Amino acid sequence: MKKILITGGAGFIGSHVVRRFVTQYPETTIVNLDALTYAGNLNNLTDIEDAANYTFVKGDITDSTFVNQLFKEHHFDGVVHLAAESHVDRSITDPVSFVMTNVIGTVNLLNSFKELWKADFTNKRFYHVSTDEVYGTLGETGLFKETTSYDPNSPYSASKASSDHFVRAYGETYGLPYVISNCSNNYGPHHFPEKLIPLFINNIIHNKPLPVYGDGNYTRDWLYVIDHAIAIDLAFHKAENAATYNIGGFNEWKNIDLVKLLCKMMDEKLGRDAGTSEKLITYVTDRPGHDLRYAIDASKINQELGWKPTVTFEQGLEKTIDWYLNNDEWLEQVTSGAYQDYYKKQYE
Ligand code: NAD
Ligand code: DAU
Repeated sequence: MKKILITGGAGFIGSHVVRRFVTQYPETTIVNLDALTYAGNLNNLTDIEDAANYTFVKGDITDSTFVNQLFKEHHFDGVVHLAAESHVDRSITDPVSFVMTNVIGTVNLLNSFKELWKADFTNKRFYHVSTDEVYGTLGETGLFKETTSYDPNSPYSASKASSDHFVRAYGETYGLPYVISNCSNNYGPHHFPEKLIPLFINNIIHNKPLPVYGDGNYTRDWLYVIDHAIAIDLAFHKAENAATYNIGGFNEWKNIDLVKLLCKMMDEKLGRDAGTSEKLITYVTDRPGHDLRYAIDASKINQELGWKPTVTFEQGLEKTIDWYLNNDEWLEQVTSGAYQDYYKKQYE
């Protein structure tokens, strides 16, 4: 492919995907389209911003006229779509913005892609990056498979489920070539500190309370973000048309156990006495509609495409902690201003 559009490339996962594509495919032009919301940050990409095959465009996927124009101008052969409102807690206070970006924004991209190539979709691909949250919640046992029924519980997951359905529907109705992947919880460098791991790292650094929702016995499956970017690269280039893949870390943790591990590792890194950070743990009011457990069966992508995580959780967590400790300017920049208002509303 000559030209690929990556949406949401200034965000957490998107920036790792942009870096991967720009460095792996020097003959391909990568256009990063991002609205630079609170979650988008061009400082995530300073190491590759001058690459000859990279261009950034600031724009909003909810603006259909703008999106159409962009496709007419660039004739993208492929799209890797990550732009989204991504935080469950924000979706509970402001569901409409999730419908706008995650549903309408996705449909706008699909329409422009379809209009451009409908006469001949040969060698074209729309890759939609989605989440395991579309499957709802598991009990104590079982795993999400690609065949698990959708059963979303939060406005965020409902909007992502809807966008997945639109992608499939465009495949069925218009023959639009697509791939969808549904991934578990990512962690790693450049993660905005509204999500559990970076929020708690930041709070431990500043000796602030660690707000554990409910009893802390909720379970998530964690994957190092670069391993997700590698999986997307592989599936984008190698998957069959209309394939769906679940991507996960084979790595389940109860929140409270994960938080205790983080506290222990941070105490060691910061030279604090063992047990210091654990004292910051504070149990707070639960998230409404909180999904008990997510766990991914990633055997399909493993068997068909040979993908598996390259780092263990302990290695990934150590890399992540080191990155935050070495990038205090990044952390200070993203936690000033509007972040303070968000934090007060959410936690105080
Ligand atoms: P993020 O919130 O860090 O980044 C989202 C990016 O999208 C930001 O750069 C933001 O500026 C941009 N954006 C938001 N609204 C936009 C709009 N209207 N127009 C253009 N750009 C817009 O998100 P993330 O955690 O990197 O997630 C990326 C994608 O991966 C999302 O689709 C999310 O649903 C999915 N996903 C995330 C995880 C995870 O653990 N974070 C796991 C599975 C799937
Ligand atoms: O599973 C994939 C999803 O993972 C992605 O689709 C989402 O974009 C991403 O945000 C993430 O969703 P979660 O809701 O699982 O992630 P979060 O980091 O917000 O929360 C992880 C767990 O920690 C969850 O059980 C809620 C809990 N939590 C979270 C925060 C922010 C707390 O106990 N306290 C907190 O302050």
